[in-house]
Amino acid sequence: MGVESNWWWPVATESELGEQPLAVTLLGEPLVLWRDAGGDPVALLDRCPHRGTPLSMGRVHEGAIACAYHGWRFAADGRCLQVPALPGFTPGPAQAATARPVRRAHGLLWVDPGGARHEPPELVGLAPRRVHVGPFDVETSAPRAVENFLDTAHFAWVHEGWLGDPREPQVPHHEVTATADGRPVVERYLAWQPRANASAQGGDWVAYRYEVLSPYSALLTKRATSGGPEDSYVIWCCPSEPERTRVWFSQFTNDAASSDAELHQFQTTIFTQDAPVLQAQRPRRLPLSDGAPREAFTAADRLSLAYRAYLRTTGVTFGTC
Ligand code: FES
Ligand SMILES: [Fe+2]
Repeated sequence: MGVESNWWWPVATESELGEQPLAVTLLGEPLVLWRDAGGDPVALLDRCPHRGTPLSMGRVHEGAIACAYHGWRFAADGRCLQVPALPGFTPGPAQAATARPVRRAHGLLWVDPGGARHEPPELVGLAPRRVHVGPFDVETSAPRAVENFLDTAHFAWVHEGWLGDPREPQVPHHEVTATADGRPVVERYLAWQPRANASAQGGDWVAYRYEVLSPYSALLTKRATSGGPEDSYVIWCCPSEPERTRVWFSQFTNDAASSDAELHQFQTTIFTQDAPVLQAQRPRRLPLSDGAPREAFTAADRLSLAYRAYLRTTGVTFGTC
């Protein structure tokens, strides 16, 4: 694994993990998540050390996971507790599974693939109501999904009647700056939006702020210039495979009028408009290297350019070419 192992990565929302094992894939590595006896989320490589059966096929009982094939039982730290075929046998390190650290942040479960130094991103000053939308599994790379989240020039074409209007397709001048640690930021971007959010009654000019949070996550905050709710969205990507990504959106809002179902419906509609284009882009990996297929840029794409430049500084290559 490359430098990607320096980051904690989201693999599920807290509510996706119930009583029984959950199989996820992070950076090409299959993992099984479950809850220990105290209810805390834990993870092992999803491969029984005995005969390679996915542990996610097994059952959880009293905080330990039992393999579906021969019933070997494993603790949260990977220790083998029992080999049912040999009742007198005390298992040791040779029978152990491999554990991965798990933690909670922002209502999601995060996994350290091995020696993570970068904590889950901090979110400060966002509206208090939080709704998670997803997961969406998309057949593309994580950086393609994040670049789409940062792209404003597609509003008029992909989100006609919602986030954009073909009669107002221009990308106004906007400055791209950066945080102290080099993550791209756009403090103010103005877009004409026919239906900017779940409670919008008509079109409005909407002020956006963008911030890249990590290689595969970003934040936007938007508010109509005439008032109305302030909405922030974070796109969280779990880089499952180089060309397959699990995506969630966390919405933070002070919209008290819309139900959770209405907020879900709005963001699901928007992402359902994005997904066909996103999955059809070729290459699926984001071109970053000198040998990659060339893509053309104009001044309207300056945030995409800044995101690509930032990605190069991080050294990540998973989902790039
Ligand atoms: S393969 Fe898991 S117990 Fe045998
Ligand atoms: Fe979009």
